[in-house]
Amino acid sequence: MTIWQPRLDGRRGPRYLAICNALAEDIEAGQLNSGDRLPTHRDLAFRLGVTVGTVSRAYGEATRRGLLSGEVGRGSFVREPGKEESAVVERGLLPHGVVDLSLNQAPVGGMERDAFRAAFDHVGQRRDISRVLDYQFDAGGSEAERVAVATFLVGVGAWRDVDEIVMTAGVQHGLMVALAALAEPGDVVLTEALTYPGFRALANMLHLRPQGVALDGHGLIPEALEEACTATGARVLYLIPTLQNPTTAILPRGRREQIAAIARRHGVVVIEDDIYGFLAPEAPERMQAIMPEQTVLLGGTSKSLAPGLRIGVAVAPRALAARIAARVRASLWMPAPPMAAVVRRLVEGGDALRIAEARRREAVTRERIARQVLGRYNIASHPASVHLWMALPEHWRGRDLISASRQRQIAVTPAETFAVTRGAGRDHIRISLGGPRSHAALRHGLRALADLLAAEPDLLGPAM
Ligand SMILES: Cc1ncc(COP(=O)(O)O)c(C=O)c1O
Repeated sequence: MTIWQPRLDGRRGPRYLAICNALAEDIEAGQLNSGDRLPTHRDLAFRLGVTVGTVSRAYGEATRRGLLSGEVGRGSFVREPGKEESAVVERGLLPHGVVDLSLNQAPVGGMERDAFRAAFDHVGQRRDISRVLDYQFDAGGSEAERVAVATFLVGVGAWRDVDEIVMTAGVQHGLMVALAALAEPGDVVLTEALTYPGFRALANMLHLRPQGVALDGHGLIPEALEEACTATGARVLYLIPTLQNPTTAILPRGRREQIAAIARRHGVVVIEDDIYGFLAPEAPERMQAIMPEQTVLLGGTSKSLAPGLRIGVAVAPRALAARIAARVRASLWMPAPPMAAVVRRLVEGGDALRIAEARRREAVTRERIARQVLGRYNIASHPASVHLWMALPEHWRGRDLISASRQRQIAVTPAETFAVTRGAGRDHIRISLGGPRSHAALRHGLRALADLLAAEPDLLGPAM
């Protein structure tokens, strides 16, 4: 029997829920594994100074959430994830019972977890661990690390010289240092009319003026860019050419070339966010391949490996890369070297590619499930997209749908979150597919959303 001691310090609310939540966290953290037998109700109650009834309620709640299985006379055991649909559905719910179809994240499990553990162990066992933990001379990462990480994230063809690669603490950080290197407070920075909200947050922080450029189902419209460049004199364009967030568009080659020609004419540097590129290997050549002298290419490990690693790269012409590296130094000295070492290990041992490929396959499976459930609606997607962009049926207004879905404990993202141009994407929502822990949980959330979409908003009671 496991001598499991839940840590209840600082947990508020009913004791039974505190015990259940502590159990969920310890399973998640790998401190308890499938098949582990838990202490008896009486034993745990005694050690925690609570009643036996409290422990019974806690175990009961954990069983309902699919964390435990109980066998009369044998005790309670940590359940193997993914065994029974009904139980697994519960595990995909957020702590407050919300089905999360709002965050572009991907669950880590199975072989990935083992690969991460092995890479962390490897770095932890290094004889030069104190050197790894020290300040590094090179803010943008050691040469070997930069090359390893960039090889995985953007491919060996993306630079001519290692000095063109700067290591960043993820794409959001890469975007921050690139913007800081390229724009002054008050400058207009162009982007797609709907874009990744982290861009707007940064533009605000850096006192830049973001301006949206019209886009359609194929991405940014070159003619609209030409007009915006002429009207504003902007010198920077932030672009997600492959699997655009939120519209999932992939810019066709012709448009990429037109955009490059416009950027050259107007002296505009393109910041190309390729965080989803690994999901669409068939996408046309990157903007950076077409126009390396005027592009900052950003790649990151958040979608292909895990967001907690906080490692990415920015690839830019040498002089610009040096300016970006100076901003890495100014913002955080250096991306955490142990994390860079972990990513390097994953890359050099081959696990990074395996994990990225597993994630791509998982994205394909989830997208297929989403199409099965929501296929009759007007959806923009891609076979490996981690989110969908949906035009709501006519009888729904965006705001009403968002509040009705909230009442049903389903989190989706409204168009306004992405809109740089007021009103862009009106009556659309983004549905992310990576949040729920299991396929069953995903299906459950999507079905609840489909039921809602099929209903007439006026006929829904206020309490629903
Ligand atoms: C287009 C885009 N860029 C950047 C990010 C954030 O990347 P990171 O976690 O590497 O900072 C996201 C996250 O969803 C994204 O969608």
